[in-house]
Amino acid sequence: MGNEIDVSKLDKVIEKYRGKEGTLITILQEAQEIYGYLPEEVILHISRKTKVPVARVYGVITFYAQFYLERRGKHTIRACRGTACHVRDAKPVLKVIKQALGIKDGETTEDYQFSLETVACLGACFLAPVMMIDRDYYGKLIPRKVESIFKQYS
Ligand code: FES
Repeated sequence: MGNEIDVSKLDKVIEKYRGKEGTLITILQEAQEIYGYLPEEVILHISRKTKVPVARVYGVITFYAQFYLERRGKHTIRACRGTACHVRDAKPVLKVIKQALGIKDGETTEDYQFSLETVACLGACFLAPVMMIDRDYYGKLIPRKVESIFKQYS
């Protein structure tokens, strides 16, 4: 397992912040950008190179919701379950999203195409019901629109 991950880009990131205080979170963010998540080998490597104890690195990762310890889908779907969306019929939309992907909240499809998260508000209530795929908003959703939207990403 040890040789599967190419750490050359990661080493450049660590090098960039060498000797600077309080950069662990930034290093972790950039590492996650490289790998899409934070595999154990990457965490151990960061710990070794920065001399921050592994337990502390894990402490930071588990504290911030932005970090992922498991491989994620290529695209992240954020479906809103907030009040404004709820009253505009988000429930059947969410049901179709889950059915179309065959996964539940917090899961990733087997082909690693999509990860699904539900969130309390996407800050676009006027578009309710809303979902985001990566950085794109899809508003005024109705169940039968969902699959054709997903098709654009596969
Ligand atoms: S409640 Fe859904 S975007 Fe605000």
